[in-house]
Amino acid sequence: MSMAGQAVAEIRANAEPKHGVEDEIRRLKRELNAVILAHFYQESEIQDVADFIGDSLQLSQQASRTEADVIVFAGVHFMAETAKILNPTRQVLLPDLNAGCSLADSCPPHLFKPFRERYADHLVINYINCSAEIKAMSDIICTSSNAEKIINSIPRERPILFGPDRNLGRYLMKKTGRDLRLWQGACTVHETFSEQKLLRLKVRHPGAKVLAHPECEERLLRNADYVGSTTGILNYVKHDPGQEFIVATEPGIIHAMEKECPGKIFIPAPPENSCACNECPHMRLNTMGKLYLCMKNRSPEITMDEELRIRALQPIQRMLEMSA
Ligand code: 13P
Ligand code: SF4
Repeated sequence: MSMAGQAVAEIRANAEPKHGVEDEIRRLKRELNAVILAHFYQESEIQDVADFIGDSLQLSQQASRTEADVIVFAGVHFMAETAKILNPTRQVLLPDLNAGCSLADSCPPHLFKPFRERYADHLVINYINCSAEIKAMSDIICTSSNAEKIINSIPRERPILFGPDRNLGRYLMKKTGRDLRLWQGACTVHETFSEQKLLRLKVRHPGAKVLAHPECEERLLRNADYVGSTTGILNYVKHDPGQEFIVATEPGIIHAMEKECPGKIFIPAPPENSCACNECPHMRLNTMGKLYLCMKNRSPEITMDEELRIRALQPIQRMLEMSA
């Protein structure tokens, strides 16, 4: 074997666990007194090894009440960052630091700041899919589970600036009957669902109900039987007597659906491109191997400037109080 080949073999031997990856993750969890929080969009093996699986709101609620020394966040950066904002003394690990979010990226702080200043009399409600800098410029944070309730609790005469998701914003305008000033951000995953392919799928499965996340565009949402957060969609399939569902959100959620409702059929809604389903490339950067390595090396870790953390904390705490 060449020198380079030998070096690669050595690195692999040091990186790969002696026992199965799953067993090693469970062992490290005990050793570190760690909790693994996973979003529904993670690959199924990660969901199966997690202590808690949930939507963005449930994951931040869980992070706010954990007593673990280490939080391992199987999700994207803004989710792990929210856990760190809530837990400055605990170590927060993210398997891949590059696991970002197209929606959070569509709201850069240097552009949002003058927008916010232009509408200084507006209350700023931002969706949790944003950076700590954007959270620090917000009055209240919300998720797709509680946004409608939070907006409805604000006196009607108070103007509201809503960001960063224009699709969720437009959906909320319709639901609440309020005129929100919208930041024009979007999720590239939810905006690539194809209406034409969805309509063809509905013809082939006439009994199937269409379930969609409010990050989808209006042309998709108008074809949906139910619109809601990942937990909302999961609860819908649990309680609905229907047997077939077309799922217009990241297909990772189908794992939880199949576990909760064995026998029911779940069909991922197809995107515009040639792929059969529409995985979030950011969420899918996390793998079992990276999860194991981040626990073994206690890195990559989320760190944050304390002054920024304190400013970002207040609107998150307001959300948690309003969602209790
Ligand atoms: P939920 O809060 O519904 O889990 O949504 C998170 C997300 O990133 C949707 O793309
Ligand atoms: Fe962000 Fe969209 Fe991925 Fe959700 S699905 S994490 S909003 S890029």
